[in-house]
Amino acid sequence: MSETADLVITNGTVVTETATFEASLAARDGVITAIGAASEMPPAAETIDASGLHILPGIIDVHVHFREPGMTHKEDWATGSRAAAMGGVTTVFEMPNTNPPVSNVEGYTLKRGLADEKSIVDFGIYGVILDDNLADLAPLAEAGVIGYKLFLGNTTGNLPCPSDGAILEAFEILSRLGKRCSIHAENSPILFWREDRLKRAGRYDPVDHVLSRTDVVAVEALSKSCVFAEWTGARIHIVHESCASSLPYIRFFKDKGVDVTVETLPQYLLLALEDMDRPGGHVMRMNPPIRERAQQGPLRQAFAEGLIDMIATDHAPHLPEEKDGATIWDMACGFPGVETQVPLMLSLAAEGAFSLQRYVQASSAAPARAFGLYGTKGLIAPRADADLTLVDLGRKEVLSAERLSSRGKVSPFEGMSVTGWPVGTIVRGKAVMRDGEITAEAGWGQEVRQAMPEPAPRNAEKHLATLCGASPAPGQ
Ligand code: DOR
Ligand code: ZN
Repeated sequence: MSETADLVITNGTVVTETATFEASLAARDGVITAIGAASEMPPAAETIDASGLHILPGIIDVHVHFREPGMTHKEDWATGSRAAAMGGVTTVFEMPNTNPPVSNVEGYTLKRGLADEKSIVDFGIYGVILDDNLADLAPLAEAGVIGYKLFLGNTTGNLPCPSDGAILEAFEILSRLGKRCSIHAENSPILFWREDRLKRAGRYDPVDHVLSRTDVVAVEALSKSCVFAEWTGARIHIVHESCASSLPYIRFFKDKGVDVTVETLPQYLLLALEDMDRPGGHVMRMNPPIRERAQQGPLRQAFAEGLIDMIATDHAPHLPEEKDGATIWDMACGFPGVETQVPLMLSLAAEGAFSLQRYVQASSAAPARAFGLYGTKGLIAPRADADLTLVDLGRKEVLSAERLSSRGKVSPFEGMSVTGWPVGTIVRGKAVMRDGEITAEAGWGQEVRQAMPEPAPRNAEKHLATLCGASPAPGQ
Protein backbone atom coordinates (compact mmCIF):
# COMPACT_ATOMS: atom_id res chain seq x y z
CA MET A 1 0.00 0.00 0.00
CA SER A 2 1.57 3.29 -1.08
CA GLU A 3 -0.49 5.91 0.74
CA THR A 4 0.46 6.90 4.24
CA ALA A 5 -2.13 7.20 7.00
CA ASP A 6 -2.72 9.82 9.65
CA LEU A 7 -3.50 7.16 12.22
CA VAL A 8 -3.08 3.40 12.44
CA ILE A 9 -4.55 1.34 15.25
CA THR A 10 -3.02 -2.11 15.48
CA ASN A 11 -4.08 -5.46 16.85
CA GLY A 12 -7.41 -4.62 18.41
CA THR A 13 -10.62 -6.60 18.48
CA VAL A 14 -13.14 -4.82 16.27
CA VAL A 15 -16.77 -5.16 17.31
CA THR A 16 -19.58 -4.28 14.92
CA GLU A 17 -23.29 -4.95 15.32
CA THR A 18 -22.90 -8.20 13.40
CA ALA A 19 -19.32 -9.41 13.93
CA THR A 20 -16.31 -9.47 16.24
CA PHE A 21 -12.84 -9.95 14.74
CA GLU A 22 -9.15 -9.18 15.25
CA ALA A 23 -7.96 -6.33 13.04
CA SER A 24 -5.89 -3.24 12.56
CA LEU A 25 -7.32 -0.02 11.08
CA ALA A 26 -5.91 2.92 9.15
CA ALA A 27 -7.41 6.40 8.86
CA ARG A 28 -6.60 9.30 6.57
CA ASP A 29 -8.33 12.65 6.12
CA GLY A 30 -10.86 11.69 8.77
CA VAL A 31 -12.10 8.45 7.26
CA ILE A 32 -11.22 4.78 7.57
CA THR A 33 -8.98 3.75 4.67
CA ALA A 34 -8.00 0.19 5.58
CA ILE A 35 -9.13 -2.67 7.79
CA GLY A 36 -6.93 -5.75 7.92
CA ALA A 37 -3.83 -7.38 9.33
CA ALA A 38 -1.22 -5.17 11.04
CA SER A 39 1.24 -6.09 8.27
CA GLU A 40 -1.13 -4.58 5.67
CA MET A 41 -1.31 -1.17 7.33
CA PRO A 42 0.45 1.79 5.68
CA PRO A 43 3.04 3.88 7.50
CA ALA A 44 1.29 6.40 9.74
CA ALA A 45 1.94 9.69 11.48
CA GLU A 46 0.51 8.21 14.68
CA THR A 47 0.11 4.60 15.78
CA ILE A 48 -1.95 3.25 18.65
CA ASP A 49 -1.29 -0.27 19.88
CA ALA A 50 -4.70 -1.69 20.73
CA SER A 51 -3.51 -5.11 21.88
CA GLY A 52 -5.95 -6.36 24.48
CA LEU A 53 -8.46 -3.61 23.63
CA HIS A 54 -11.79 -3.65 21.80
CA ILE A 55 -12.50 -1.13 19.07
CA LEU A 56 -16.15 -0.06 18.83
CA PRO A 57 -17.78 2.29 16.32
CA GLY A 58 -17.79 5.75 17.95
CA ILE A 59 -20.52 6.05 20.57
CA ILE A 60 -23.34 8.44 19.56
CA ASP A 61 -25.31 9.99 22.42
CA VAL A 62 -28.52 11.48 20.99
CA HIS A 63 -29.51 13.15 24.27
CA VAL A 64 -27.24 15.55 26.16
CA HIS A 65 -27.74 18.95 27.79
CA PHE A 66 -24.58 21.06 27.52
CA ARG A 67 -26.40 24.13 28.91
CA GLU A 68 -24.73 26.75 26.73
CA PRO A 69 -25.91 29.42 26.04
CA GLY A 70 -27.41 30.62 29.28
CA MET A 71 -26.61 28.13 32.03
CA THR A 72 -22.84 27.84 31.77
CA HIS A 73 -22.41 27.56 35.51
CA LYS A 74 -23.80 24.01 35.06
CA GLU A 75 -21.86 23.10 31.88
CA ASP A 76 -20.67 24.55 28.59
CA TRP A 77 -19.61 23.17 25.23
CA ALA A 78 -15.98 22.87 26.38
CA THR A 79 -16.67 21.00 29.62
CA GLY A 80 -19.54 18.98 28.17
CA SER A 81 -17.63 17.83 25.11
CA ARG A 82 -14.58 16.98 27.22
CA ALA A 83 -16.86 14.90 29.42
CA ALA A 84 -18.12 13.15 26.29
CA ALA A 85 -14.58 12.44 25.09
CA MET A 86 -13.59 11.12 28.53
CA GLY A 87 -16.59 8.82 28.36
CA GLY A 88 -15.74 7.42 24.93
CA VAL A 89 -18.51 9.36 23.17
CA THR A 90 -17.63 10.70 19.69
CA THR A 91 -20.90 12.44 18.72
CA VAL A 92 -23.55 14.19 20.81
CA PHE A 93 -26.95 15.66 19.97
CA GLU A 94 -27.62 18.61 22.23
CA MET A 95 -31.03 19.60 23.62
CA PRO A 96 -32.67 23.00 23.11
CA ASN A 97 -33.73 23.85 26.69
CA THR A 98 -30.97 26.43 26.98
CA ASN A 99 -31.37 30.18 27.40
CA PRO A 100 -32.32 31.30 24.83
CA PRO A 101 -33.87 28.04 23.71
CA VAL A 102 -33.24 26.95 20.12
CA SER A 103 -36.67 27.96 18.86
CA ASN A 104 -35.64 29.85 15.72
CA VAL A 105 -32.72 30.24 13.33
CA GLU A 106 -31.16 32.97 15.43
CA GLY A 107 -31.04 30.68 18.47
CA TYR A 108 -29.66 27.87 16.36
CA THR A 109 -26.95 30.06 14.86
CA LEU A 110 -25.89 31.30 18.28
CA LYS A 111 -25.53 27.77 19.64
CA ARG A 112 -23.89 26.46 16.49
CA GLY A 113 -21.19 29.16 16.79
CA LEU A 114 -20.47 28.19 20.39
CA ALA A 115 -20.30 24.50 19.56
CA ASP A 116 -18.05 25.09 16.54
CA GLU A 117 -15.67 27.07 18.66
CA LYS A 118 -15.54 24.83 21.71
CA SER A 119 -16.62 21.25 21.07
CA ILE A 120 -13.99 18.53 20.76
CA VAL A 121 -16.54 15.91 19.66
CA ASP A 122 -18.93 15.99 16.71
CA PHE A 123 -22.39 17.30 17.37
CA GLY A 124 -25.95 17.88 16.21
CA ILE A 125 -28.22 20.60 17.58
CA TYR A 126 -31.94 20.15 18.25
CA GLY A 127 -34.59 22.80 17.71
CA VAL A 128 -37.59 22.99 20.04
CA ILE A 129 -41.31 22.87 19.20
CA LEU A 130 -43.44 25.50 20.93
CA ASP A 131 -46.97 26.84 20.47
CA ASP A 132 -45.65 29.94 18.74
CA ASN A 133 -42.76 28.76 16.56
CA LEU A 134 -44.43 26.56 13.93
CA ALA A 135 -43.35 29.04 11.24
CA ASP A 136 -39.75 28.54 12.40
CA LEU A 137 -39.66 24.77 12.00
CA ALA A 138 -38.87 24.66 8.27
CA PRO A 139 -36.23 27.43 8.51
CA LEU A 140 -34.62 25.50 11.39
CA ALA A 141 -34.42 22.41 9.17
CA GLU A 142 -32.89 24.47 6.40
CA ALA A 143 -30.35 25.94 8.85
CA GLY A 144 -29.26 22.46 9.93
CA VAL A 145 -30.92 21.17 13.10
CA ILE A 146 -30.45 17.43 13.61
CA GLY A 147 -34.11 17.12 14.61
CA TYR A 148 -36.63 18.62 17.00
CA LYS A 149 -37.42 18.28 20.69
CA LEU A 150 -40.93 18.27 22.03
CA PHE A 151 -41.29 18.70 25.79
CA LEU A 152 -44.66 17.18 26.58
CA GLY A 153 -43.53 16.85 30.18
CA ASN A 154 -42.37 19.83 32.17
CA THR A 155 -38.71 19.79 33.22
CA THR A 156 -35.57 21.96 33.58
CA GLY A 157 -36.09 25.20 31.67
CA ASN A 158 -39.88 25.15 32.11
CA LEU A 159 -40.52 25.23 28.38
CA PRO A 160 -44.30 25.07 28.08
CA CYS A 161 -45.87 22.00 26.53
CA PRO A 162 -47.59 23.06 23.28
CA SER A 163 -51.34 22.50 22.85
CA ASP A 164 -52.46 19.31 21.10
CA GLY A 165 -53.52 21.45 18.12
CA ALA A 166 -50.03 22.91 17.78
CA ILE A 167 -48.40 19.49 18.25
CA LEU A 168 -50.49 17.91 15.50
CA GLU A 169 -49.73 20.76 13.11
CA ALA A 170 -46.04 20.60 14.05
CA PHE A 171 -46.05 16.88 13.21
CA GLU A 172 -47.73 17.66 9.86
CA ILE A 173 -44.90 20.10 9.13
CA LEU A 174 -42.22 17.65 10.29
CA SER A 175 -43.71 14.85 8.19
CA ARG A 176 -42.87 16.93 5.11
CA LEU A 177 -39.41 17.89 6.34
CA GLY A 178 -38.52 14.29 7.18
CA LYS A 179 -36.51 15.09 10.31
CA ARG A 180 -37.15 13.20 13.54
CA CYS A 181 -38.78 14.68 16.63
CA SER A 182 -37.40 13.56 20.00
CA ILE A 183 -40.15 13.56 22.59
CA HIS A 184 -40.07 13.94 26.36
CA ALA A 185 -43.13 11.77 26.81
CA GLU A 186 -44.80 12.76 30.07
CA ASN A 187 -48.26 14.34 30.46
CA SER A 188 -47.75 17.80 32.01
CA PRO A 189 -51.32 18.50 33.19
CA ILE A 190 -51.36 15.22 35.12
CA LEU A 191 -47.92 15.64 36.67
CA PHE A 192 -48.64 19.23 37.73
CA TRP A 193 -52.00 18.20 39.20
CA ARG A 194 -50.49 15.33 41.17
CA GLU A 195 -47.51 17.37 42.36
CA ASP A 196 -49.88 20.02 43.69
CA ARG A 197 -52.11 17.46 45.46
CA LEU A 198 -49.10 15.70 46.98
CA LYS A 199 -47.62 18.96 48.26
CA ARG A 200 -50.95 20.02 49.75
CA ALA A 201 -51.14 16.66 51.50
CA GLY A 202 -47.74 17.37 53.08
CA ARG A 203 -45.82 14.87 50.99
CA TYR A 204 -42.22 15.99 50.56
CA ASP A 205 -40.18 12.80 50.29
CA PRO A 206 -38.03 11.66 47.35
CA VAL A 207 -40.53 8.94 46.44
CA ASP A 208 -43.30 11.55 46.12
CA HIS A 209 -41.57 12.91 43.04
CA VAL A 210 -41.91 9.49 41.45
CA LEU A 211 -45.57 9.25 42.50
CA SER A 212 -46.32 12.63 40.91
CA ARG A 213 -45.09 11.20 37.61
CA THR A 214 -46.50 7.71 38.03
CA ASP A 215 -46.45 5.30 35.07
CA VAL A 216 -49.64 6.48 33.34
CA VAL A 217 -48.03 9.92 32.93
CA ALA A 218 -45.49 8.30 30.59
CA VAL A 219 -47.80 5.79 28.93
CA GLU A 220 -50.39 8.40 27.93
CA ALA A 221 -47.79 10.74 26.42
CA LEU A 222 -46.09 7.94 24.52
CA SER A 223 -49.42 6.76 23.11
CA LYS A 224 -50.57 10.22 22.05
CA SER A 225 -47.22 10.88 20.38
CA CYS A 226 -47.48 7.65 18.41
CA VAL A 227 -51.10 8.30 17.38
CA PHE A 228 -50.16 11.75 16.07
CA ALA A 229 -47.08 10.33 14.32
CA GLU A 230 -49.14 7.58 12.70
CA TRP A 231 -51.71 10.07 11.46
CA THR A 232 -49.21 12.56 10.03
CA GLY A 233 -46.29 10.31 9.02
CA ALA A 234 -43.92 12.27 11.28
CA ARG A 235 -40.83 10.40 12.47
CA ILE A 236 -40.50 10.38 16.24
CA HIS A 237 -38.03 9.27 18.89
CA ILE A 238 -39.09 8.65 22.48
CA VAL A 239 -36.35 9.87 24.81
CA HIS A 240 -35.57 8.38 28.22
CA GLU A 241 -38.03 5.47 28.29
CA SER A 242 -38.31 4.62 31.98
CA CYS A 243 -41.40 2.52 32.22
CA ALA A 244 -42.15 -1.18 31.76
CA SER A 245 -45.83 -0.36 31.20
CA SER A 246 -44.88 1.49 28.00
CA LEU A 247 -43.34 -1.55 26.37
CA PRO A 248 -46.51 -3.21 24.96
CA TYR A 249 -47.55 0.15 23.50
CA ILE A 250 -44.15 0.57 21.81
CA ARG A 251 -44.52 -2.89 20.30
CA PHE A 252 -48.07 -2.13 19.16
CA PHE A 253 -47.17 1.14 17.43
CA LYS A 254 -43.99 -0.25 15.85
CA ASP A 255 -46.02 -3.19 14.52
CA LYS A 256 -48.51 -0.71 13.07
CA GLY A 257 -45.70 0.88 11.07
CA VAL A 258 -45.22 4.09 13.06
CA ASP A 259 -41.67 5.38 12.51
CA VAL A 260 -40.86 5.49 16.22
CA THR A 261 -37.49 4.80 17.82
CA VAL A 262 -36.93 4.58 21.56
CA GLU A 263 -34.01 5.19 23.89
CA THR A 264 -33.49 4.24 27.49
CA LEU A 265 -30.79 5.37 29.94
CA PRO A 266 -28.35 3.41 32.12
CA GLN A 267 -30.03 4.68 35.31
CA TYR A 268 -33.35 3.01 34.43
CA LEU A 269 -31.53 -0.31 33.94
CA LEU A 270 -29.41 -0.04 37.08
CA LEU A 271 -31.02 2.16 39.74
CA ALA A 272 -34.36 1.93 41.50
CA LEU A 273 -36.85 4.00 43.43
CA GLU A 274 -36.16 1.77 46.44
CA ASP A 275 -32.67 3.38 46.61
CA MET A 276 -34.03 6.92 46.76
CA ASP A 277 -34.51 7.00 50.51
CA ARG A 278 -30.92 6.07 51.31
CA PRO A 279 -28.51 8.94 52.13
CA GLY A 280 -27.73 10.81 48.91
CA GLY A 281 -30.60 9.07 47.12
CA HIS A 282 -32.26 12.39 46.34
CA VAL A 283 -29.60 12.91 43.64
CA MET A 284 -31.63 10.44 41.59
CA ARG A 285 -34.42 12.99 41.12
CA MET A 286 -34.94 13.28 37.39
CA ASN A 287 -37.71 13.36 34.79
CA PRO A 288 -39.07 10.87 33.98
CA PRO A 289 -38.32 9.34 37.38
CA ILE A 290 -36.35 6.20 38.14
CA ARG A 291 -39.04 3.66 38.99
CA GLU A 292 -39.46 0.47 41.06
CA ARG A 293 -36.73 -2.17 40.84
CA ALA A 294 -39.26 -4.60 39.38
CA GLN A 295 -39.27 -2.52 36.18
CA GLN A 296 -35.57 -3.11 35.50
CA GLY A 297 -36.01 -6.66 34.22
CA PRO A 298 -38.56 -5.85 31.50
CA LEU A 299 -36.59 -2.76 30.43
CA ARG A 300 -33.35 -4.74 30.22
CA GLN A 301 -35.07 -7.42 28.19
CA ALA A 302 -36.64 -4.87 25.82
CA PHE A 303 -33.22 -3.31 25.37
CA ALA A 304 -31.55 -6.66 24.74
CA GLU A 305 -34.21 -7.57 22.14
CA GLY A 306 -34.06 -4.19 20.40
CA LEU A 307 -37.65 -3.17 21.18
CA ILE A 308 -35.89 -0.29 22.90
CA ASP A 309 -33.63 0.73 20.04
CA MET A 310 -30.83 2.64 21.68
CA ILE A 311 -29.03 3.83 24.77
CA ALA A 312 -28.55 7.54 25.48
CA THR A 313 -27.68 9.44 28.65
CA ASP A 314 -29.82 12.56 29.18
CA HIS A 315 -26.58 14.10 30.47
CA ALA A 316 -28.23 16.77 32.67
CA PRO A 317 -25.61 18.49 34.83
CA HIS A 318 -26.49 20.76 37.76
CA LEU A 319 -24.23 22.08 40.51
CA PRO A 320 -24.23 19.99 43.72
CA GLU A 321 -25.93 22.86 45.58
CA GLU A 322 -28.71 22.94 42.97
CA LYS A 323 -29.28 19.24 43.57
CA ASP A 324 -29.82 20.01 47.26
CA GLY A 325 -32.93 21.62 48.66
CA ALA A 326 -35.24 21.72 51.65
CA THR A 327 -37.49 19.05 50.11
CA ILE A 328 -37.46 16.83 47.03
CA TRP A 329 -39.58 19.41 45.19
CA ASP A 330 -36.77 21.99 45.48
CA MET A 331 -34.01 19.84 44.01
CA ALA A 332 -32.88 20.21 40.38
CA CYS A 333 -33.85 17.32 38.09
CA GLY A 334 -31.21 15.26 36.32
CA PHE A 335 -27.50 14.49 36.66
CA PRO A 336 -24.48 13.95 34.39
CA GLY A 337 -24.27 10.78 32.34
CA VAL A 338 -22.23 11.18 29.19
CA GLU A 339 -19.04 10.04 30.98
CA THR A 340 -20.46 6.98 32.64
CA GLN A 341 -22.66 5.37 29.98
CA VAL A 342 -19.91 3.24 28.45
CA PRO A 343 -18.58 1.68 31.69
CA LEU A 344 -22.10 1.11 33.05
CA MET A 345 -23.31 -0.57 29.88
CA LEU A 346 -20.12 -2.60 29.45
CA SER A 347 -20.62 -3.81 33.00
CA LEU A 348 -24.15 -4.93 32.17
CA ALA A 349 -22.84 -6.67 29.06
CA ALA A 350 -20.17 -8.36 31.18
CA GLU A 351 -22.95 -9.67 33.45
CA GLY A 352 -24.67 -11.13 30.40
CA ALA A 353 -27.60 -8.70 30.20
CA PHE A 354 -26.96 -8.34 26.44
CA SER A 355 -24.14 -9.02 23.99
CA LEU A 356 -21.37 -6.62 23.11
CA GLN A 357 -22.60 -6.58 19.52
CA ARG A 358 -26.07 -5.57 20.67
CA TYR A 359 -24.47 -2.79 22.71
CA VAL A 360 -22.62 -1.56 19.61
CA GLN A 361 -25.89 -1.57 17.71
CA ALA A 362 -27.71 0.35 20.45
CA SER A 363 -24.98 2.90 21.13
CA SER A 364 -23.82 3.67 17.60
CA ALA A 365 -25.54 2.00 14.64
CA ALA A 366 -29.15 2.56 15.77
CA PRO A 367 -28.68 6.25 16.64
CA ALA A 368 -26.88 6.79 13.33
CA ARG A 369 -29.70 5.10 11.40
CA ALA A 370 -32.51 6.93 13.19
CA PHE A 371 -30.98 10.35 12.54
CA GLY A 372 -29.64 9.88 9.01
CA LEU A 373 -25.94 9.50 9.75
CA TYR A 374 -25.50 5.80 9.00
CA GLY A 375 -22.77 5.14 6.47
CA THR A 376 -20.74 8.13 7.64
CA LYS A 377 -21.11 7.24 11.29
CA GLY A 378 -22.41 4.23 13.23
CA LEU A 379 -20.15 1.62 11.64
CA ILE A 380 -16.56 0.55 11.08
CA ALA A 381 -16.01 0.28 7.33
CA PRO A 382 -13.85 1.79 4.61
CA ARG A 383 -14.88 5.40 3.83
CA ALA A 384 -16.86 5.80 7.06
CA ASP A 385 -15.70 8.50 9.46
CA ALA A 386 -12.87 7.18 11.63
CA ASP A 387 -14.93 7.60 14.81
CA LEU A 388 -13.87 4.91 17.25
CA THR A 389 -14.25 4.12 20.92
CA LEU A 390 -11.44 2.02 22.38
CA VAL A 391 -12.43 0.09 25.47
CA ASP A 392 -10.65 -2.15 27.96
CA LEU A 393 -13.28 -4.74 28.83
CA GLY A 394 -11.32 -6.12 31.77
CA ARG A 395 -10.57 -2.86 33.51
CA LYS A 396 -12.23 -2.44 36.89
CA GLU A 397 -12.91 1.04 38.22
CA VAL A 398 -15.06 2.70 40.85
CA LEU A 399 -17.29 5.56 39.68
CA SER A 400 -17.34 8.79 41.58
CA ALA A 401 -18.65 12.31 41.05
CA GLU A 402 -15.24 13.74 41.89
CA ARG A 403 -13.69 12.10 38.82
CA LEU A 404 -16.19 13.66 36.40
CA SER A 405 -15.01 16.28 33.90
CA SER A 406 -18.50 17.73 33.86
CA ARG A 407 -19.18 20.84 35.94
CA GLY A 408 -22.04 18.91 37.54
CA LYS A 409 -20.00 16.93 40.04
CA VAL A 410 -22.90 14.85 41.27
CA SER A 411 -23.60 11.19 40.55
CA PRO A 412 -26.14 8.60 41.64
CA PHE A 413 -23.53 6.01 40.66
CA GLU A 414 -21.14 7.14 43.41
CA GLY A 415 -19.05 4.21 44.61
CA MET A 416 -20.38 1.79 42.02
CA SER A 417 -17.84 -0.76 40.72
CA VAL A 418 -17.72 -1.19 36.96
CA THR A 419 -15.96 -3.64 34.66
CA GLY A 420 -15.03 -2.12 31.29
CA TRP A 421 -13.63 1.35 30.63
CA PRO A 422 -13.14 3.70 27.67
CA VAL A 423 -9.42 4.29 27.08
CA GLY A 424 -9.47 6.04 23.71
CA THR A 425 -11.87 8.30 21.82
CA ILE A 426 -11.11 8.89 18.15
CA VAL A 427 -13.10 11.53 16.23
CA ARG A 428 -12.55 11.59 12.45
CA GLY A 429 -9.14 10.00 12.75
CA LYS A 430 -7.89 12.13 15.61
CA ALA A 431 -7.55 10.91 19.19
CA VAL A 432 -9.45 13.38 21.37
CA MET A 433 -8.89 11.24 24.51
CA ARG A 434 -6.15 8.72 25.26
CA ASP A 435 -5.80 6.96 28.61
CA GLY A 436 -7.83 9.54 30.47
CA GLU A 437 -6.10 12.58 28.94
CA ILE A 438 -7.79 15.02 26.58
CA THR A 439 -5.67 15.25 23.42
CA ALA A 440 -7.63 17.66 21.19
CA GLU A 441 -7.93 21.40 20.97
CA ALA A 442 -11.30 23.11 21.42
CA GLY A 443 -13.10 23.29 18.09
CA TRP A 444 -12.06 19.90 16.68
CA GLY A 445 -15.70 18.84 16.78
CA GLN A 446 -17.87 19.44 13.72
CA GLU A 447 -21.58 19.48 13.12
CA VAL A 448 -22.66 16.15 11.64
CA ARG A 449 -23.86 15.86 8.03
CA GLN A 450 -27.29 14.28 7.91
CA ALA A 451 -29.20 12.54 5.13
CA MET A 452 -32.67 11.48 6.24
CA PRO A 453 -34.74 9.19 4.00
CA GLU A 454 -37.43 10.78 1.81
CA PRO A 455 -40.24 12.27 3.89
CA ALA A 456 -43.35 10.07 4.09
CA PRO A 457 -46.33 12.27 5.06
CA ARG A 458 -49.71 10.66 5.68
CA ASN A 459 -53.16 12.26 5.32
CA ALA A 460 -51.44 15.16 3.54
CA GLU A 461 -54.69 16.29 1.97
CA LYS A 462 -56.00 17.03 5.47
CA HIS A 463 -52.88 18.81 6.75
CA LEU A 464 -53.49 22.43 7.72
CA ALA A 465 -50.83 23.57 5.24
CA THR A 466 -52.88 21.95 2.46
CA LEU A 467 -56.14 23.48 3.71
CA CYS A 468 -54.88 26.93 4.76
CA GLY A 469 -51.32 27.45 3.50
CA ALA A 470 -48.12 27.48 5.54
CA SER A 471 -48.36 28.15 9.26
CA PRO A 472 -48.14 31.92 9.80
CA ALA A 473 -45.82 33.54 12.30
CA PRO A 474 -47.63 34.49 15.53
CA GLY A 475 -49.86 37.55 15.18
CA GLN A 476 -50.25 37.16 11.43
O1 DOR B 1 -34.36 15.29 34.76
C1 DOR B 1 -34.26 15.87 33.70
N1 DOR B 1 -33.38 16.88 33.53
N2 DOR B 1 -35.04 15.48 32.71
C2 DOR B 1 -35.10 16.17 31.56
O2 DOR B 1 -35.83 15.78 30.70
C3 DOR B 1 -34.30 17.40 31.37
C4 DOR B 1 -33.13 17.42 32.24
C5 DOR B 1 -32.45 18.75 32.35
O3 DOR B 1 -32.35 19.48 31.35
O4 DOR B 1 -32.00 19.09 33.46
ZN1 ZN C 1 -33.06 15.51 28.60
